[in-house]
Amino acid sequence: MKGLSGRRVLLTGGASGIGRATAIRLAEEGCRVGILDIDEAGAAATIARCPGGAWFARTDITNRTNVEATVAQFETEIGPIDFLANIAGWERFRNFLDTDTALWDRIIGINLYGPLHLHHVVLPGMVQRGFGRIVNVSSDAGRVGSSGEAVYSACKGGIIAFTKTVAREVARKGITLNVLCPGPTDTPLFDEFKAGTPDGAKVGEAMARAVPLKRIGQPEDYPGTIAFLLSDDAAYITGQTLSVSGGLTMS
Ligand SMILES: NC(=O)c1ccc[n+]([C@@H]2O[C@H](COP(=O)([O-])OP(=O)(O)OC[C@H]3O[C@@H](n4cnc5c(N)ncnc54)[C@H](O)[C@@H]3O)[C@@H](O)[C@H]2O)c1
Repeated sequence: MKGLSGRRVLLTGGASGIGRATAIRLAEEGCRVGILDIDEAGAAATIARCPGGAWFARTDITNRTNVEATVAQFETEIGPIDFLANIAGWERFRNFLDTDTALWDRIIGINLYGPLHLHHVVLPGMVQRGFGRIVNVSSDAGRVGSSGEAVYSACKGGIIAFTKTVAREVARKGITLNVLCPGPTDTPLFDEFKAGTPDGAKVGEAMARAVPLKRIGQPEDYPGTIAFLLSDDAAYITGQTLSVSGGLTMS
């Protein structure tokens, strides 16, 4: 794809699932990939599969000081950040009335505050340089809702609205922001969903049947779209939300 080779990308959640597949794909495209994650072993496994390797700093995206230190370290060691991909996420599946505020805090901390911190720390440099591309991984839950995921859906819907707003604010600075919404995808997060659901295996099969393309997603279904939204081919696209979910949601 045009305009990816040699670019520096900071990517959260690269130790697993969609983030891992994206880190590998962007490394294959010639990007210099920096991974932020709390899972060191998972990140090492990702890096082993990245052509040319990747940079990693153990970073808890809910912790502002930690995010600031990592961004500064990356810029010192690798250089200015061209691309940001917010992919890290977390969820525990419960009906809303069975949740408590401690769970809300954790879900909001990772899925909403995490990306907010990354934007707030990384964007000033992009504004100064007059260039940047950001992709935020939300969820179809943020577009159409999802039983057992009320607070997570609120965060994911929030990220969509946040992205549109910031996209307007920084458009004149040469920066684009877009959102990718996966549907149900075969990753540890989805295993957690099945484990937390009575008859989880059957629910998983039923979900696959509900998808027009008749399967749930694989992590490798998304990196091409993320790479496209970061590439020069997408230079005239901003503030958009794209579902990649086998046709499950058509909105
Ligand atoms: N799997 C699905 O069915 C599905 C569906 C829709 C949207 N999504 C979204 O896709 C994204 C990737 O999910 P996935 O399925 O690949 O999940 P995953 O569990 O495989 O990977 C999530 C990664 O985020 C990291 N992470 C969690 N908390 C963190 C923190 N505080 N700081 C830094 N890193 C942290 C984890 O260590 C892990 O490496 C998430 O934003 C998720 O909400 C997933």
